[in-house]
Amino acid sequence: MDQGKQITLPLLMSVGTAVIGSLQFGYNTGVINAPQEVIENFINQTWYHRYNEPIPKSSLTAVWSIAVSVFSVGGIFGSFSVGLFVNRLGRRNSMLMANILAFISAVLMGFSKMAKSWEMLIVGRFVVGLYCGLSTGFVPMYVGEISPTALRGALGTLHQLGIVIGILIAQIFGLEVIMGNENLWPLLLAFLFIPAVIQCVLLPLCPESPRFLLINKNEENKAKCGEHIHTSHTSWHMCKHKFILNHLLFFFLHVSVLKKLRGTTDVSADMQEMKEESRQMMREKKVTILELFRSPLYRQPLLIAVMLQLSQQLSGINAIFYYSTSIFAKAGVEQPVYATIGAGVVNTAFTVVSLFVVERAGRRSLHLLGLLGMAGSAILMTIAMALLEQLKWMSYVSIVAIFAFVAFFEIGPGPIPWFIVAELFSQGPRPSAIAVAGFSNWTANFIVGMGFQYGASACGPYVFVIFTVLLVIFFIFTYFKVPETKGRTFDDIAAGFRQTAAMAEKHTPEELNSLGADSQL
Ligand code: GLC
Repeated sequence: MDQGKQITLPLLMSVGTAVIGSLQFGYNTGVINAPQEVIENFINQTWYHRYNEPIPKSSLTAVWSIAVSVFSVGGIFGSFSVGLFVNRLGRRNSMLMANILAFISAVLMGFSKMAKSWEMLIVGRFVVGLYCGLSTGFVPMYVGEISPTALRGALGTLHQLGIVIGILIAQIFGLEVIMGNENLWPLLLAFLFIPAVIQCVLLPLCPESPRFLLINKNEENKAKCGEHIHTSHTSWHMCKHKFILNHLLFFFLHVSVLKKLRGTTDVSADMQEMKEESRQMMREKKVTILELFRSPLYRQPLLIAVMLQLSQQLSGINAIFYYSTSIFAKAGVEQPVYATIGAGVVNTAFTVVSLFVVERAGRRSLHLLGLLGMAGSAILMTIAMALLEQLKWMSYVSIVAIFAFVAFFEIGPGPIPWFIVAELFSQGPRPSAIAVAGFSNWTANFIVGMGFQYGASACGPYVFVIFTVLLVIFFIFTYFKVPETKGRTFDDIAAGFRQTAAMAEKHTPEELNSLGADSQL
């Protein structure tokens, strides 16, 4: 087998352990859909217990909507804070530490019924949102950094596979006969405890990202030494020796990590690539979010990263995953809960399809195909919904349309935006870029989650026309602006953007690079 495509056990185990975080994200996205009624009953009973009267309808709707959407508010804060942790603690330890939030949330939600407190449920949803926001940054970053170039897309898609399997598990566990009933719903919500324990056991056995060890840690050491130049000659010399020792230590550490991940002793190609990136980073340093917005170097990739996140969320996918049961019911489907699970199965199956074709077909073409297919499915869905009154069999057409909508989503717009951000930026700006992208994704997620029901009541069967228009806009944007990143090294991708920025600013790439670096020093 081609060495660059070797999937070793340590690599698989590291990716598999990391994507438990993705599974948690999916689980908590899907878990609140099915047991809505039983949890609303609990809120009502609690209210009655306190005030001796049933909860007014409007208050119930408000408490419920907050419990659902406060998750994305947590996600917004979590994803934006990614940069605070990854460079200090490292990628792996950041993932490990985030589990504290999962445990806190499981306790809050699991005991909310016993404590007769829906406030605990809301706080618990917020805390797990924080955890998931962090995960949507940590996981793609770690996976992108430990993967060999030729497998970055396929392994990156595993983040999305974790998410969709999480959604599916939640849909199944949420059935009344399993845990979506009056007695067991607290267990259903607290279930996240178990994957969190598993991740805490496995993560210490996984290696730290070799990119982090070589590039960040080394830079840090050099920077620390630099400070001593200004103090005294002896401390500079002492530091120099310490630096050389540290350098060797990190070098060996990262080489051994790489050898383990790649399953071969010849890691020279990877080393070369990281060294190139490291050299580049010497000039650009760590980039803060503010600097990311200021420097012309990052304008293009940042715009692409944000637009791709928006294309994922504003495609309307979560209108399906949050409200599918009521959409199916409106479309005249007799067993809407099972149709929802059907959507979960299609969702998972097509993520697997994407996994196998993404390294061959490329990111750009799959994203374009997905957006176009979604737009077509949304039109079909609208026609089916509009004609439902006259033609009863249109309910079947609407099921087909919704399944096709989900399938096309997973071909491209589902997995690609999550991992492409790590590809579009080199080590210096990567954490900040991932934070900004995650923030855009979660904010758009929140807007769709909150706004869809209002949109649906205002536009009736035509609500998906809004998403069709947006999908077409994102298709046009992707067609003209998004480059192919398949099979290219991080450094090569960054060089491509430097070239574009240089042309736009009428500088040579080198001039622009030093301009970018200057503005950040
Ligand atoms: C993506 C989205 C998430 C959505 C899921 C559906 O991961 O980020 O919001 O629920 O796909 O499969």
